[in-house]
Amino acid sequence: MRNVEIEDIRKPNYFYDEAIKTLRTNLQLSGKRIKSILITSSYPNEGKSDISISLAKELSSIGKKVLLIDADIRKSAYFTHFRVNQEVKGMSQFLSGQIAVKDLIYATNYENLDIIFGGSPAPDPTSLLGDEIFGAFMKEIRGYYDYIICDTPPVANIIDAVLVAKYCDGAIFVVEQGAVSYRVAQKAMNRLRRAGCRILGTVLNKADQT
Ligand SMILES: Nc1ncnc2c1ncn2[C@@H]1O[C@H](COP(=O)(O)OP(=O)(O)OP(=O)(O)O)[C@@H](O)[C@H]1O
Ligand SMILES: [Mg+2]
Repeated sequence: MRNVEIEDIRKPNYFYDEAIKTLRTNLQLSGKRIKSILITSSYPNEGKSDISISLAKELSSIGKKVLLIDADIRKSAYFTHFRVNQEVKGMSQFLSGQIAVKDLIYATNYENLDIIFGGSPAPDPTSLLGDEIFGAFMKEIRGYYDYIICDTPPVANIIDAVLVAKYCDGAIFVVEQGAVSYRVAQKAMNRLRRAGCRILGTVLNKADQT
């Protein structure tokens, strides 16, 4: 396993952090068999990555062994999000056979939190995530962690999250307030359900607090 120094550049927000704690508690109440969790939404920009990162950090802070996977190999935002200043490899390189597992997973400076980066943009992410290498990896890795959080692209127009969902125990579905119609959200969730993925719950994000 490799090491990486990551820095979460977001400003702490009391209400957001409290909501993440509630989400973490609800997740724990979903049962011990819920280990690999997909985070997705209908559209881009609804806050999936923020929630994935915050939830992974929260779980690791209470002593759970967590693996955070950037399965959005179209955008692969973690490199910049975490201000990484070293060269890192990621999921796209692993799935295309360029690197081995030992070079895929990074231990971070956060105790109990390991991370997998998206890697360099791949020409055909869908076929990479659809490959059985991904499924085999997900089955193998679950023995080593308490929780595996998979951050994915939006599900309304891109199939990737559905492919990842096949290998997750459940999904948290993010809905940005005012940005998604009921019909679109239902359709997106049904796509996940058809892949055999249980929707553990939804998060109403960027909600008006007043
Ligand atoms: N609860 C929130 N309140 C206000 N702004 C937020 C909230 N959550 C996320 N954001 C902001 O919304 C933007 C998108 O967040 P994020 O990258 O997490 O979304 P995403 O769903 O992962 O997007 P993409 O589909 O592009 O991967 C960011 O600028 C982020 O700072
Ligand atoms: Mg994202």
